[in-house]
Amino acid sequence: MRDRPPFRVGVLVSGRGSNLQAIIDAIEKRNLCVEIALVISNKIDAEALQRARQNGIRAEFLDPKDFPDRFSYDRELSQKFQRANVDLVVLAGYMRLVSSVLINSFKNRMINIHPSLLPAFPGLRAHGQALNHGVKVTGCTVHFVDEEVDHGPILLQAAVPVLEGDTEDSLSDRILIEEHHLLPRAIQLLAEERVSFEGRRVIIKEGG
Ligand code: GRF
Repeated sequence: MRDRPPFRVGVLVSGRGSNLQAIIDAIEKRNLCVEIALVISNKIDAEALQRARQNGIRAEFLDPKDFPDRFSYDRELSQKFQRANVDLVVLAGYMRLVSSVLINSFKNRMINIHPSLLPAFPGLRAHGQALNHGVKVTGCTVHFVDEEVDHGPILLQAAVPVLEGDTEDSLSDRILIEEHHLLPRAIQLLAEERVSFEGRRVIIKEGG
């Protein structure tokens, strides 16, 4: 265990980066024993890039306009992560569809966080979808990435009650608190190799 090289994480971001910050903070507090090898954003002005750089983490903007299509963009992403010896790719608020090129390079080694209890409310505006539907409980999900949006095997979920008078913002704020616990925990489970699959069911081995 002691001799194992650090588990290397690559992170894809597009915006604010509060989930990236939660990963950074969990590492700092030693609740998460991994190294962030590389952060890549498809948006030049993503706050997440600043957060990474302020913490001495290599962070790059990769402009989709420099590539003819999604596949060539994802091929470049895949090569960058492979060159950085990344064990796991984490989508932390990455607002771009991921193609088979990247999915196949990181099969069962790429996770996403989504602000609903999947399979309910996939896609955009998950909080608004939950409010409009009138559910009493929603939450967040960490799942493996497959070729369908917000669809792959579920690793962890946390429930959040919907309160009278909730708006998208208030609900989103409370779900985000749970996201910030769930994502570092999911990464730690993978780093400890405690995760296996039975079909699309994810089995988590008890911790030692
Ligand atoms: C989070 O709500 C996450 O679940 C969703 O996008 C949002 C990203 O927030 N996929 P942040 O950039 O991590 O602050």
